[in-house]
Amino acid sequence: MSYSYQIGSLEQYHEAYRKSVEDPEGFWAEIARTFTWKKPWDKVLEWNFKEPNVKWFIGGQLNITENCLDRHLESKADQPAIIWESNDPNEHHRVLTYRRLHFKVCQFAWVLKNNGVKKGDRVCIYMGMVPELAIAVLACARIGAIHSVIFGGFSAQSIADRLQDAKAEYIITCDGAYRGNKTIPLKPVIDDALVTCPFVKTVIVHTRTRTPVSMIKGRDLWWEDEINRVETQGNPDFPAETMDAEDPLFILYTSGSTGKPKGVVHSSAGYMIYTNYSFVNVFQNKPGDVHFCTADIGWITGHSYIVYGPLSAGATSLMFEGIPTFPDAGRFWAIVDKYKVNILYTAPTAIRSLMVFGTDFVTPYKLDSLRVLGTVGEPINEEAWHWYDEQIGKKRCPIVDTWWQTETGGILISNLAGVTPAIPAHATLPLPGVQPVLVDENGKEVKGNGVSGNLCIKFPWPSIIRTTYGDHERCRTTYFATYENMYFTGDGALRDEKGNYRITGRVDDVLNVSGHRIGTAEVENAINMHYGVVESAVVGYPHEIKGQGIYAYVIYSGKREDEELIRKDISATVSRIIGPIAKPDKIQFVTGLPKTRSGKIMRRILRKIAEGELQNLGDTTTLLDPAVVEEIKTGKQ
Ligand code: WT7
Repeated sequence: MSYSYQIGSLEQYHEAYRKSVEDPEGFWAEIARTFTWKKPWDKVLEWNFKEPNVKWFIGGQLNITENCLDRHLESKADQPAIIWESNDPNEHHRVLTYRRLHFKVCQFAWVLKNNGVKKGDRVCIYMGMVPELAIAVLACARIGAIHSVIFGGFSAQSIADRLQDAKAEYIITCDGAYRGNKTIPLKPVIDDALVTCPFVKTVIVHTRTRTPVSMIKGRDLWWEDEINRVETQGNPDFPAETMDAEDPLFILYTSGSTGKPKGVVHSSAGYMIYTNYSFVNVFQNKPGDVHFCTADIGWITGHSYIVYGPLSAGATSLMFEGIPTFPDAGRFWAIVDKYKVNILYTAPTAIRSLMVFGTDFVTPYKLDSLRVLGTVGEPINEEAWHWYDEQIGKKRCPIVDTWWQTETGGILISNLAGVTPAIPAHATLPLPGVQPVLVDENGKEVKGNGVSGNLCIKFPWPSIIRTTYGDHERCRTTYFATYENMYFTGDGALRDEKGNYRITGRVDDVLNVSGHRIGTAEVENAINMHYGVVESAVVGYPHEIKGQGIYAYVIYSGKREDEELIRKDISATVSRIIGPIAKPDKIQFVTGLPKTRSGKIMRRILRKIAEGELQNLGDTTTLLDPAVVEEIKTGKQ
C-alpha cells in the first residue's frame, strides 16, 4: 500500500497543514475515504469543547479490525504483521503474517463469543508482551467489546480499582510474564484483585511461564482449551461486528493530579484514522519496513504504535517481550540487526539507561538498517538526543521527538522524519489537523513567536479523548474547564522564533517517572495507608535515568529506631497499593510540612528542597510555620 496522504516534502507539509486548518472536514474526509467502511458517514464533524462533545464521521459504520487485517489479505497476506522477539534471545521468535494474525484474531473472537462477551462489554487485559496480547486486543475490537489493557506492573489493588470503575466482567491474563531474569506472576495478582470484584464472570488464562496458578471452577478457563473448542467447532472466519464511528474502542487508565486514575475513552473511527495518519507521516513508513516500538502495549504508545497505527497501515510491527538490559545492555541493538529494523521508537529514559553502559554494547552491532529514530514520553535532554543521534543513528537517521498523551490518542506535535527539520530537544511542529496555542495564567492566548505558556489545543483532531469512563463531568473539569473552548494538556511549552514547540514538562501535580505518568496525590494516598504515617507530600526531582524521581516527605508517628526498615515498609506499601513503578526514590522523615494559613501544602518549596536548591526557596513568609522549612532543609536526603 502506498499512502496517498503521506507527506513527502516540507512544502507538502505546509500545504497539508494549511488545508487542515482552512477546511478540516474536507481534509480528514479525504483521508478517511481510503479506509474500509461498512457504511459511509453522513457528517464529518460536530463539536463543542464546552460539554465537551466531539463526534467525527457521524453515521459512519466500520470495524477497525477489517482495516487492520481483512483489507490487507488481498495483497499482503504473507507479509509479517507482527514479529515477536522473546525475552530469552535463545527462544525462537514468532512471525504472524497478516493471514495468520487474521486467523488467530477470528479464533479468539469466537472464544470471546463462546463465553458470552458481547458488543459494548468491557474486557480487561492483563498480560505480558506476548503476541496473544495483541490478538486479545484485536479480538475484542472485532467483537465490539471495549478493551481495557492494564500494564503488567500494576498491583492487585490498582486492577481492582479499574475493574470496578469499568465494571468489567471479563479478564484475559497469563499465568505469568518474563521480564529479564525475572518471572512476574500475573494470574495470582488477578486472583487477589478479584477478592473485591465478585462481578467478574470469566478469566481466560494464556500459558506463558507455566508457573502454578489456582484455576477456579466455573470462573477460570485456559486460553488453549478454549481455542481447541473453537477448532472443533470449525469456524474459521469471524464476521466483524458493525461499529458506529463513535462507539468506544477502548478505555485506558491514566493518572491525573487528583483522585484515582481515570479511564480515557477512545472512539473507533477517529482513533483509527488519526493513529494511522500520524504513524504514516511521523515515521515515514515505507513498504517492507520493520517498525520497532519498544513500549509495552499496556500504555497508549503500544496501543497506537505497536498495534493500531502500524496494522491499519499494513506495516510490520516488531513486538519485544523483554527489557533493554537483558541479557545485556546491547539487546535493542541485537534486535535491530537481527530483524533489520528500519524504524526504532523508544523513550528517553531507555536511552539514558543504556548510555551509562557505554558504547561497548553498541559497537558490536551494525545498525545499518536503521533509517528513522523516535522518542516519546518526556522531554529528551540534549545529551541523550546526541548520543542517540551519534551512536545509534550514526548521524544519518532523523530523530522524531513525538509529543502526545494518552488523551490525544496519537502524536500531535513532532517533526516528520526527514521531511520537516529536527531540532534537538524540540518536538517542533504540529501535525496537520492540530492547532496548538499557548495561554498565560489568565487564560489569554499568547500570540506570536518567542513566547511560552501553557499548552492547549483549540480545535478537535480525530483521536481526541471522548470522555472519562462513567464520569463525563470529570473529563470536562480536567481538560476543558481550565481554559474556555480549549483542550488543556497539563504541559508547559515554549514556542521559538520560528514557531517550533519545545515541551518543558507538566505544570500540574503529575510526575513523569521513566516516561510513565504518576499522580502525586495517588502516591501520597498510598503512603498514608501505611501504619504510622500521619501525613505525606510527594514531589518530583530531577533523576539522571528516570527523568523524574519520586521524593516523599513523611510525617511518621511511631518510633523510628530503624529508619531504613520503615522506608522499605513504606515502599512496599506503595508497591502493594499502586505497583512498583510508583515506589518513592527518596523518603525524608519530617515533623511538619510547609503549609499556607489555609492549610495547603506548598509544594513549590518542597520541590526546591528536593531539587537541592536550598538557597532559592522564594517567599516563605506566608507559611503557617516557617520554622518547618529550616528543619526540612537540614534533614534533606
Ligand atoms: C505526558 C503524557 C503518549 C506517550 C507516552 C506518555 C509527556 C510525552 C513527550 C515529548 C516532552 C512529553 C508530557 C505529556 N510527554 N511525550 N516528546 N516531549 N514531553 O503518555 O502517560 O499520557 O503522558 O508525557 O508531559 O503530557 P502519558
